[in-house]
Amino acid sequence: MSKNKRKILLLPGDGIGPEVVREVKKIIEWFNKNKSLDFSFEEELIGGASIDANQIPITDEVFYKSLDSDAVILGACGGPKWDNLEFSKKPERALLKLRKELKLFANLRPAICFKQLVDSSTLKPEIVSGLDIMIVRELTGGIYFGEPRGIEPIENNERRGVNTHSYTTSEIQRIARVAFDLAKKRKNKVTSCEKSNVMEAGVLWREEVQKLKEKDFKKIELNHMLADNCAMQLLRNPKQFDVILADNLFGDMLSDEAAMLTGSLGLLPSASLGAKDKNGKIRSLYEPVHGSAPDIAGKNIANPIATILSLSMALRYSLDLDKEANLLDEAVQKVLDDGLRTKDIISAGKKEVTTADMGDAIISKLK
Ligand code: IPM
Ligand code: MG
Repeated sequence: MSKNKRKILLLPGDGIGPEVVREVKKIIEWFNKNKSLDFSFEEELIGGASIDANQIPITDEVFYKSLDSDAVILGACGGPKWDNLEFSKKPERALLKLRKELKLFANLRPAICFKQLVDSSTLKPEIVSGLDIMIVRELTGGIYFGEPRGIEPIENNERRGVNTHSYTTSEIQRIARVAFDLAKKRKNKVTSCEKSNVMEAGVLWREEVQKLKEKDFKKIELNHMLADNCAMQLLRNPKQFDVILADNLFGDMLSDEAAMLTGSLGLLPSASLGAKDKNGKIRSLYEPVHGSAPDIAGKNIANPIATILSLSMALRYSLDLDKEANLLDEAVQKVLDDGLRTKDIISAGKKEVTTADMGDAIISKLK
């Protein structure tokens, strides 16, 4: 086996997932052929696609394959077709199971406003041009997984829905460490978000992040900000931020908001990383921040860039292929320089292209 033999698992999933992952597959094939990288890749069902075929959102077989891969690249899970299923059987459970059981506690969501797309944002160009922030979202704790949870009948024919938000000191510290480490390679600035004005778990979050900074990251500038204020500041003056640190739920919301600063949700990649295991291997899952977008699925108009940039994050963080990651990032830039745009980022004077054309154009720039 050559030293480059790496296993990549592709999980296209639902909605636009298969269309955007198809472009990633073409790029992997290109790297295999032209850069003598010997990736082996397999494709499996997840989410609604798996429910249709196997009655469950992820089979054990697929789950074990993802444990055994060097990187998993996922398209999207979910759609109206499966909306009425019982909660534990919904497509999204597959994604949550992978995150939880692969222990992918650190979700990195960069939001970069490409100079070519300054006009695609709904915000004024001077607010977003040059924007480069990194959202570090905790991914395996908080209200997404807390117990007790459920819907229960109560008196007077009423029902009560319950979810539990909780974090331990070690959960907070390990994600804060990721944020501080990343900040060291950037502008040395972390803004940590919580609601310490109303939530005890928020008070603990603030205290533990502060403690870690004082202990191990004295040189980092740390600001604490209430999450609602952060949502507002992201629109008012997003360039004040470098690294934003947030829990699972606030991170979910702030990253969607940050995405729109960049022009389109179709541009944002993400990496979900676990801790190093005994062999130094980090489990990882890469996925676009956008969802399955059922309204545009199957039309060959979705933007594949978020998923393609997710592959580039995989090359960088899981496969030790920085050179190839840079090559891919540059190819995306060049295509945007040429004025090619999918429908979500089209503007006057630019050329509208399909999902597949965008993938092909990016490949042509790799050459
Ligand atoms: C995300 C998505 C998911 C989440 C959904 C699909 C479960 O919104 O990755 O941001 O809420 O985490
Ligand atoms: Mg989300």
